[in-house]
Amino acid sequence: MKDKIRIGNILKMKAVGKKISALTAYDFTFSYLLDQSGIDIILVGDSCGNVCAGYETTIPVTMDEMIYHCKSVKRGVKRALLVGDMPFMSYQASEEDGLRNAGRLIKEGGVEAVKLEGGKPICRIIEKIVDVGIPVMGHLGLTPQSVHGYGGYSVRGKRTKEADQIKSDALALQKAGVFAIVLEKIPSHLAKEISKELDIPTIGIGAGKYCDGQILVTYDMLGLFDKMNLKFVRNYGNLAEEIRSSVKQYIEDVQTENFPSANESY
Ligand code: KIV
Repeated sequence: MKDKIRIGNILKMKAVGKKISALTAYDFTFSYLLDQSGIDIILVGDSCGNVCAGYETTIPVTMDEMIYHCKSVKRGVKRALLVGDMPFMSYQASEEDGLRNAGRLIKEGGVEAVKLEGGKPICRIIEKIVDVGIPVMGHLGLTPQSVHGYGGYSVRGKRTKEADQIKSDALALQKAGVFAIVLEKIPSHLAKEISKELDIPTIGIGAGKYCDGQILVTYDMLGLFDKMNLKFVRNYGNLAEEIRSSVKQYIEDVQTENFPSANESY
């Protein structure tokens, strides 16, 4: 195992032009495998709401659910930097909420940093969290917790006004003290401009190749969650099909008494 990844390593990677790799995890088995494979950042995303709980959006995810997932993931991680998502309405209502819930994710969930969605309106909350020593990752562009406000999951920042807003939000987040910003589903030329302008790294998802790093939902890139067909996801596996065919084979073996064999019995 190489040395533990800390915030300083992530910042240095941008400085020396080394791309940052990040994936999501929600349980021990996956985090153990991702960590062993050498991933730089593991995010316990509130996408657990979609892929683990089967919710239509990330909005119903609660702090207690996030803490359960963070704790499970934490046990599998030795090397990667571990970041946990602050779920919807765990920080938007007040600075005190934000501070207490960020504290819970660190203290009870065991993560090393928290991620919040949004720009200028949440900068004051971010400053408070950073001030007490909790590293914060930002998230701009298509922020899924605002899906109802946007009216869907379409690409953000195509029009000049919205692109300018995302750019100024990125600068405001940097000033507020975030150590990195996820840029989700924005045009690659916009992500390039933002990445060039910022001293801190950008981590893209559907934001093109000019970001300082990339993140995907692990279930998507492994072909495990095949309910959605997203343009920006590359399939590195077809686990959904593998699971279905393995389970079909198992059912057949049980029905035909091919399983268990004498060797599989006591
Ligand atoms: O919840 C999540 O998985 C995320 C990533 C898609 C960046 O926020």
